[in-house]
Amino acid sequence: GQPGGRPARGLRFEPVRPNTEDAVVVPEGYAQEVLIRWGDPVLAGAPAFDPERQTARAQAGQFGYNCDYIASLELPGERDRRLLVVNHEYTTEVMMFPGYDADRPTREQVEVAWAAHGLTVLVTEEQRGGRLTALSRHRLNRRITGTTPVELTGPAAGGELLRTSADPEGRTVLGTLNNCGGGTTPWGTVLSGEENFNQYFANAARVDDPATRKRLARYGLTGEASERKWERFDERFDLAKEPNEANRFGWVVEIDPYDPESTPRKRTALGRFKHEAAEPRLTRDGRAVLYMGDDERFDYLYKFVSKEAMRRGGRPADREHNGRLLDEGTLYVARVTGDSPADQITGDGALPEDGEFDGSGQWLPLASGDRSYVEGMTAEEVYVFTRIAADRAGATKMDRPEDVEPSPRTGRVYVALTNNTDRGAKEKAPVDEANPRRGNKHGQVLELVERHDDPAATRFGWRLFLVCGDPEDPSTYFAGFPKERVSPISCPDNIAFDPYGNLWLATDGNELGSNDGLFGVAVRGRREGEVRQFLTVPTGGEVCGPVVRERQVLVAVQHPGEVDGASADDPVSSWPDGPGKAVRPAVVTVRAEDGGRIGA
Ligand code: FEO
Ligand code: CA
Ligand code: CA
Ligand code: CA
Repeated sequence: GQPGGRPARGLRFEPVRPNTEDAVVVPEGYAQEVLIRWGDPVLAGAPAFDPERQTARAQAGQFGYNCDYIASLELPGERDRRLLVVNHEYTTEVMMFPGYDADRPTREQVEVAWAAHGLTVLVTEEQRGGRLTALSRHRLNRRITGTTPVELTGPAAGGELLRTSADPEGRTVLGTLNNCGGGTTPWGTVLSGEENFNQYFANAARVDDPATRKRLARYGLTGEASERKWERFDERFDLAKEPNEANRFGWVVEIDPYDPESTPRKRTALGRFKHEAAEPRLTRDGRAVLYMGDDERFDYLYKFVSKEAMRRGGRPADREHNGRLLDEGTLYVARVTGDSPADQITGDGALPEDGEFDGSGQWLPLASGDRSYVEGMTAEEVYVFTRIAADRAGATKMDRPEDVEPSPRTGRVYVALTNNTDRGAKEKAPVDEANPRRGNKHGQVLELVERHDDPAATRFGWRLFLVCGDPEDPSTYFAGFPKERVSPISCPDNIAFDPYGNLWLATDGNELGSNDGLFGVAVRGRREGEVRQFLTVPTGGEVCGPVVRERQVLVAVQHPGEVDGASADDPVSSWPDGPGKAVRPAVVTVRAEDGGRIGA
């Protein structure tokens, strides 16, 4: 039957059509504004942005580059104000510095890049009429950068694999890098995933020990000079000299945004891989469960269950207790099994005879405290070389697990599997029911239901909720919703939920020829699977960090104008400030022009 009537509440807007405009395009009746862009002052005393004469000192007090995850937190006691925590994933020097010479970066440029990484903590204020503004100089504003001291905690901290000549104790790392997706905990902290950290390290090929080289290679650490040449300015980025420094990246970092003096912590109990995000849910008895993706083709889906329960008291002792929650627990990896015969998974996306890509799964324990469940590996090795542990445990190779997020309404967990053009290729993993398309260009969204709705369960059921692409492509699937009524969607990446329980998906790398976008989709009821596009971003940009609130949507526009051959001297985008101005990644807010609810 054809569902009549109106779209689900929260999704009642005129969908934006696919386009290639160099602009943020929103539905009719909505307004969009830049909240903060790369280089805007964050800390007291930071200068205004000067693209021709950017300095490391200025950058350390300004909004960083390539904004990604956004956490939006309450700020009790300050009316109309909220606290944002924003990740800065990576730098694109050729877009940042006019006249940049990739073979000969200057020390100043390299130090700007270090300062442009990390995170920003920023207080925002809602003005009358609904407009959001950034309060630069608020006492809680903070920059965490590629050189801020960060503490390693949990079972692998202090171990031999994490020691370097600058840090023989193996407990203090300088900086956090490639902060991609994240999570917001119920105890008031923010989690940030270190993703493609391999790109910062040089000379893996010159490491003498073959066993070390092999471990490095499993994390994409190969070759000689790095792209950014940081190894020329700090030896810790040279693996031939400091082979363990790379082991100190690839973690989930926990930050207390309410205490600007607090030390960020890398939580080794959560394992080391290319962390996309870490979204929590609590068990009925209050233990923290984190769902985590490793964004690489043929890598895995993980979860962590804390040993202790969260305390709600709010006293200093409770806060201290919660501050240790993620240091002790059990780390699992997913084995995902289909329920249809393998010969019905043909690789072209045709549904099997039971009408669904679905099945069951198991969370395989890898380590718990000092105990390893993986033969031939110590617990410490499991935490530091988690990918290798998961290989040995027999986990299921997925199509790039990016954001993974439990619905706050239903507890069902949604996994964005962005794409995997190597799926089914010779010498690589074949198609399976959860990753059913050969040469998968457009990705899929998997819905996972824990047994008895217990987030700590070790068994689960699953189905593919969306198989993305052009609805006219017969391999697509939208939870059974009529295809002629959905927006085309490709490469789902970041996930968020709105106040009504709808799922929102931001895309990265749209393979349908139009710009990346943000989409909402109902996950229950008669409109389930009705994907509706809410916005598109400028040329070359990616949509990150969506936050969907009752009257406001926030997105991070990452790497606008970043296409092959483009540079600060020869840009292809003039966003956000118009022709002749620097192209700048920025956080954008969207609201209804009449001040009403989003999509209501
Ligand atoms: Fe940084 Fe997998 O996105
Ligand atoms: Ca099936
Ligand atoms: Ca991403
Ligand atoms: Ca998310």
